Amino acid sequence: MKYFLLLGFLSAFSCNSRSQNNNPAGKIGGPCEGCEAIYESPVPFEKLNNMCWLPDWNDKGPRLAVNGIVYNADGTPAAGVIIYIYHTDQSGVYPKKGDEKGWGKRHGYLRGWMKTNEKGEYKFFTLKPGSYPQGRNPAHIHVTVKEPDKNEYWIDEYLFDDDRYLTDDERKKIQNRGGDGILKTKDVGPLLKAERHIYLGKNIPDYL
Ligand SMILES: [Fe+2]
Repeated sequence: MKYFLLLGFLSAFSCNSRSQNNNPAGKIGGPCEGCEAIYESPVPFEKLNNMCWLPDWNDKGPRLAVNGIVYNADGTPAAGVIIYIYHTDQSGVYPKKGDEKGWGKRHGYLRGWMKTNEKGEYKFFTLKPGSYPQGRNPAHIHVTVKEPDKNEYWIDEYLFDDDRYLTDDERKKIQNRGGDGILKTKDVGPLLKAERHIYLGKNIPDYL
């Protein structure tokens, strides 16, 4: 019983994109637990916009707008790339409403989907997440991408350069998948702005 309680406790406050191998051999990106959540978009991929507002946008807290360009391995802008993000609320919890289905039971409802436009551009609006309530993990936004004709794979989480938990040791663990995910936010008054470009295939295992 204690074991199950512990499991429930851990899953309520943490998530791990890379602890299990759900990918059959031959897929790019290596192990990824939960990357298939990208297919849970409430809007069909063909109708996705390159901008999204997460459900907490109108709640109280530090507003954050992140934009960037997704590039192909040859340096050209990548159109039609699906981007799935999810993150904790400011208390560090993946919040649930109780009616979540699929990976929503783990990822909570603070999640969103976008599709890059012809210029490779994407943008999302949300509230800045908090660190898990126990431990000293840096605050982060998980991100999975899916290119046309390729399977989905995870890239480095969005992190925050001014995060006190983003120590030198934490920075050493970063794999730079898809390029640098550390955001240098700029306070422009009503919100924090940051930019991250994504480089498809960069440091992605078995990328062809
Ligand atoms: Fe997480």
